Amino acid sequence: MTRTVYVNGEYLPETEATVSIFDRGFLMADGVYEVTSVLGGKLIDFEGHVVRLARSLKELDMQPACSRGELLEIHRELVKLNNIDEGLVYLQVTRGSDGDRDFVFPDPKTTKPTIVLFTQNKPNLADNPAAKKGAKIISIEDIRWGRRDIKTVQLLYPSMGKMMAKKAGCDDAWLIEDGHVTEGTSNNAYFVKDGTIVTRPLSTDILHGITRKAVLRMAAEAQLKIEERLFTIDEAKEADEAFTTSASAFVMPVVEIDGVALGDGTPGPIAKRLREIYLDESRKAAI
Ligand code: PDD
Repeated sequence: MTRTVYVNGEYLPETEATVSIFDRGFLMADGVYEVTSVLGGKLIDFEGHVVRLARSLKELDMQPACSRGELLEIHRELVKLNNIDEGLVYLQVTRGSDGDRDFVFPDPKTTKPTIVLFTQNKPNLADNPAAKKGAKIISIEDIRWGRRDIKTVQLLYPSMGKMMAKKAGCDDAWLIEDGHVTEGTSNNAYFVKDGTIVTRPLSTDILHGITRKAVLRMAAEAQLKIEERLFTIDEAKEADEAFTTSASAFVMPVVEIDGVALGDGTPGPIAKRLREIYLDESRKAAI
C-alpha cells in the first residue's frame, strides 16, 4: 500500500509529495519536529506533543503552522488513511523557503512554514522484542549544541552516536557532558539504585521528554522514589538497573553500559513495571 502523507494542506501519495530544494529545513536544519506514538489506532500523549511543538516554534521565532485542532485532525486522518494500529506519526515544521539561500530568516509575512506529516507502521511497537531483551549502550561525548530543549531536526550527531553504538555491537549511546550523563541519542536516561530512580533535571541541556513527564508522574503515583539530579556514567554502571524513555520506545530497559552488565544482565523489575504501567495508562488516555 502506498503511504499517504501530508504536505502543506494536502494529503498525497508519498511519491507525489514534494518540498522545495530551498527549504530551510533542508539547507539549514531550520526546523522542528515531533514524534507521537499510536496504539490501538489512537494517539498517545498528543497534548504534550502539541504543547512542546508550540514551545519549540516560539523559541525559534517561528510561526505556528496549524492550530491544535487542525493538527489533531491531520494526525487522525493520516492514522486512518494509512490504517495504522501501532506505529508513529512524524511531524516536521520548517521555516519554509523564500526561493534562495540566505542565513537571515525570511519575512514570516511572505514566507510560510513548511509542514509535513507522515506515519510509520510498527506492528510490534508495544510488544517489542527489544524491550524483553533490554538495550546495550555505550557512552560517548555530548558535542551537540546548547539548546537541546528545542526539538530541532539537527540530528546528525545523534545519528552518528547510534552508528558508534552499532559498530560496538550495541543498541544505543548515552551522552556525557562535563562528566555527567545528559540523555540518550533519542531518549531520556535513568538508573535505579536501592529502589530510587535517578534522572537528570530539566534544563536547556536535555529534551523535555513527553514520555519522561508521564513516566515520572506514574512512578510517583506508584510510590517509587525519584531523584532529579546530575549523575555520572560510573554511577549508572553500578546501578541495579537502568532504562530510557521516548515516544518511540516507551520505557526501554538498559541491561549493559560500556560492557558492564547491570544487575543480572536482564531487564530490571522497575523498568519492566514502569513499561507496563505506561502502556496501560497511555492506552486508556489515548485519543
Ligand atoms: N526522540 N531526548 C532526545 C534527544 C530525543 O530525541 C527524544 C525523542 C527524547 C524523548 O522525548 P519524548 O519522550 O518526548 O519522545 C529525549 C524521538 C522519539 C525521535 O527523535 O524519534
